[in-house]
Amino acid sequence: MKRWLMMLCCACAGLAAPALFAASSGPPQPSASTYAQRMQWFADAKFGIFIHWGIYSVDGITESWSFFDGDIPYADYMKQLKGFTASRYDPQAWADLIKASGAKYAVLTSKHHDGVALWPTKRGLNVVKDTPARRDLVGPFVKALRKDDLKVGLYFSVIDWSSPLYPAFTHDQTRYQIKDDPGRWNRFVTYYQDQVHDLTNRYHPDLYWFDGDWEHTAEQWHSKQLRDWIMTHNPDAIINSRLAGWGDYGTPEQGVPIARPPYKYWELCLTMNNSWGWQPHDHHFKSTDQLIRILADTASMGGNLLLDIGPRADGTIPKIEADTLRQIGQWLGKNGEAIYGTVAGIPKDYYAGASTLSPDHKTLYLFIDGDPQGPVLVKGLTNRVVRAWVVGNGTILSPQRVGATLGNAPAPLYVDVPEDTLDPQHVTAIGLALDGPIKLYRDTSKPTQLNPDEPTMRAIQ
Ligand code: GLC
Repeated sequence: MKRWLMMLCCACAGLAAPALFAASSGPPQPSASTYAQRMQWFADAKFGIFIHWGIYSVDGITESWSFFDGDIPYADYMKQLKGFTASRYDPQAWADLIKASGAKYAVLTSKHHDGVALWPTKRGLNVVKDTPARRDLVGPFVKALRKDDLKVGLYFSVIDWSSPLYPAFTHDQTRYQIKDDPGRWNRFVTYYQDQVHDLTNRYHPDLYWFDGDWEHTAEQWHSKQLRDWIMTHNPDAIINSRLAGWGDYGTPEQGVPIARPPYKYWELCLTMNNSWGWQPHDHHFKSTDQLIRILADTASMGGNLLLDIGPRADGTIPKIEADTLRQIGQWLGKNGEAIYGTVAGIPKDYYAGASTLSPDHKTLYLFIDGDPQGPVLVKGLTNRVVRAWVVGNGTILSPQRVGATLGNAPAPLYVDVPEDTLDPQHVTAIGLALDGPIKLYRDTSKPTQLNPDEPTMRAIQ
């Protein structure tokens, strides 16, 4: 399959409604409350850090795909094993940085499509026996995150292009077809699921971030069996959607959704530059301001942002990435109330920007990008505003209704945010405490028909 086609399939997999909601013949359905309880920390978190770390950081090339796509020979890709030292790996410093970023969880690539695991697997390639790192890199990471009270996510690629048991090797080379040798495929399924069992028994992750499901069907992956096993042995865990539909939440990748995605829980995974792993020539970094806008926009649509960093082969995190994380953390330190634990905000026809709501819907948070050059406008807000303030510095604001109220249509609300109270660098958040759960007005009456033959009037009916 061409890479673009694979990526498309991948994106579709990420966007497909999890089978948990869709399948009628799925596993015993968890009760709605159990599902909601299991998902609560994730829904509240809003911000997580993705870490792509593997032997691809030795030469600074694309993770796994570089050999699969034929950019370099497999043997050359694997030479990187010799250079993967992790010599300056400081998992506690990683965890502390993640904590400082304001993220509530992190997801580490325990094994990418190249099949090189970061922990001592019984079978297959791993950094303990095959690289100079010579030690488990997952365990200390898990321990450090937990010390900092962060939730632990482990990325695991179900694809393993290095395994002799796996059908695909590269874009142009296939080892075998499943239909010709189902026994070999079954041995692969046992191999990969054993690795997931091992990860579970050793580290008990809070979240499983599967990837690569697009190469086979849910039946072939035995996704249901794996999900059932995880739910039995790690019942509080959360599973992303890339287990061929047997997951708990959607995973749009790179493209910031324009409208709210059609599922209750979702997470946008996004690179800080254009690469998942460390690539020294990729300088296309998004600015802190752009990332904060994306974070606010994602929260506005009820989702999480999983922002990626790519450490070097020695375990150091590039300064630009660390600086950006700290800056986001500083912003969240002041404005976290408008992000953490919120739910999706109001439609953009009411406020032309990102917004969130407190879970009881009694506080509306509006995000202002840059200088609004005048009061911000909220339309159709039926409630009385009890208090309005700048979240980052507590300045009290005095919103005003301008215009007469006709029937049930509330007059527009204008909130003047003086320039010296705006966030000096990034997005400003303002809070509006309402007199009750938010009620938005929408005119449902038909437009007056002045002249039935008039084309524009016909168009709006
Ligand atoms: C895609 C890519 C993979 C990357 C992942 C992150 O699935 O195949 O390289 O790790 O996206 O979401």
